[in-house]
Amino acid sequence: MSENLITATYLGAAILFILALGGLSSHESARKGILYGVLGMALAVAATVLNSSVTNYLMIVITMAIGSLLGLIVAARVQMVQMPQLVAILHSSVGLAAVLIGYSNYMDTSIHYSGTEKTIHDIEVYLSIYIGALTFSGSIIAFGKLSAILNGKPLLLPGRHALNLLLFAATLFLGWLFVAPASPESAYIALYIMTAIGIIYGIHMVIAIGGADMPVVISMLNSYSGWAAAATGFMLSNDLLIIVGALVGSSGAILSYIICKAMNRNFISVITGGYGTTKTSQSSALNNDGEVISIDIATAAALLQQAKKVMIVPGYGMAVAHAQHAVSGITQLLMSRGVNVRFGIHPVAGRMPGHMNVLLAEAKIPYDAVFEMEEVNDDFANIDVTIVIGANDTVNPAALDDPDSPIAGMPVLEVWHSKTTIVLKRGMSTGYSGIENPLFTKENTRMLFGDAKTSMDALLIELS
Ligand code: TAP
Repeated sequence: MSENLITATYLGAAILFILALGGLSSHESARKGILYGVLGMALAVAATVLNSSVTNYLMIVITMAIGSLLGLIVAARVQMVQMPQLVAILHSSVGLAAVLIGYSNYMDTSIHYSGTEKTIHDIEVYLSIYIGALTFSGSIIAFGKLSAILNGKPLLLPGRHALNLLLFAATLFLGWLFVAPASPESAYIALYIMTAIGIIYGIHMVIAIGGADMPVVISMLNSYSGWAAAATGFMLSNDLLIIVGALVGSSGAILSYIICKAMNRNFISVITGGYGTTKTSQSSALNNDGEVISIDIATAAALLQQAKKVMIVPGYGMAVAHAQHAVSGITQLLMSRGVNVRFGIHPVAGRMPGHMNVLLAEAKIPYDAVFEMEEVNDDFANIDVTIVIGANDTVNPAALDDPDSPIAGMPVLEVWHSKTTIVLKRGMSTGYSGIENPLFTKENTRMLFGDAKTSMDALLIELS
């Protein structure tokens, strides 16, 4: 393939990736967006493989076959609720790839740089390996926390800010040693130590974040993986990698900002760690002095039959229970009887951005019945019955009432203002952030205990 054709194909792929991002911004166009992305990636891989510098096709075919097979197996097996873990582990492989490519590029003696060009290339290698190393280790810790292999609570080392500062200063100093080395060996030593520091920094950064702040970490690691790819693109003089890396890096950064804003968190405070501590979680429990009132299916159905306005607030439990189709059945039935049914979606409900929207779209719930938190939060006082399906942290009044709560300041869906709130969950366990929820003991709250799908199925039968 000629250089010009490769450049033109890369440009086509870059345009398709931009169209893919545009498509993914709404439900209606998401499928088209995915198709653009797949097509763009196919073009990018084809142009890269057909590059004249590629000579060992056997190796490429074998590695692509292994990669594709692994990808197919994982994609076929992964459950919707495991998606964030999958995303985290995929980010880690982007980080690892950046590290390995950085090392192999630096060790490659066939390319010679001198003067300023060498300095710039060395900086690119250094940055690619550093960002790659911290993305790699940080993503593995995020994977461990999200899949409950590691404790979700933040681990706060004494003097952690000083440690971060020290690691950063050491990285800068080693960078100087690497770019202007006394000997080739000292450059390698600087590179090895910096890689270890990058790995330690990634672990330290993510392990210190806990409670409800993991969404920020995921989108931040997404952003880092993009910047690692962009740095690798500069190092390899690969325009497409630079463009795609910058797209991923900036969209991840924008997403982190949006999530921080939605959770009323300061981005810098989240990434320097320490949010989501459980030191005062008991205070919420102590304030929680009412009684839990449970309700049965027949009474819940009777309440819904009298209701004119119903709000449904889904959360992670709806995803675990796969209750969305039963929810859709109830929604259609109530709507057909003239009831105004709406959905209120918290920006971090579930375990990934847009988690609830995806599930509701899959169950064919009309888009115009699905609203963002800010669009419905002032309207709960006019709602006859709110059904909270497997949501917990995102409807926790402690976020507003208890300044000592780990989630204090996070906007939540104020479901307790509605006339009756029915909460579907299996027991009294806490949500992701591990804190008690005083909603469950409020006077107008009724707990419908059991698996959300079983309860919703039974409710649908009772209603019809
Ligand atoms: P959570 O606070 O995680 O609560 C989910 C609730 O669902 C649990 O209390 C659980 O109670 C219940 N549940 C689990 N399985 C169930 C089943 N089969 N049937 C019925 N109920 C079930 O959910 P949320 O309100 O959606 O909040 C999301 C949390 O995750 C936030 O803290 C958020 O910060 C965090 N987070 C979000 C993201 C993104 S980007 N969305 C990423 C990582 C973390 P029982 O066990 O008693 O049933």
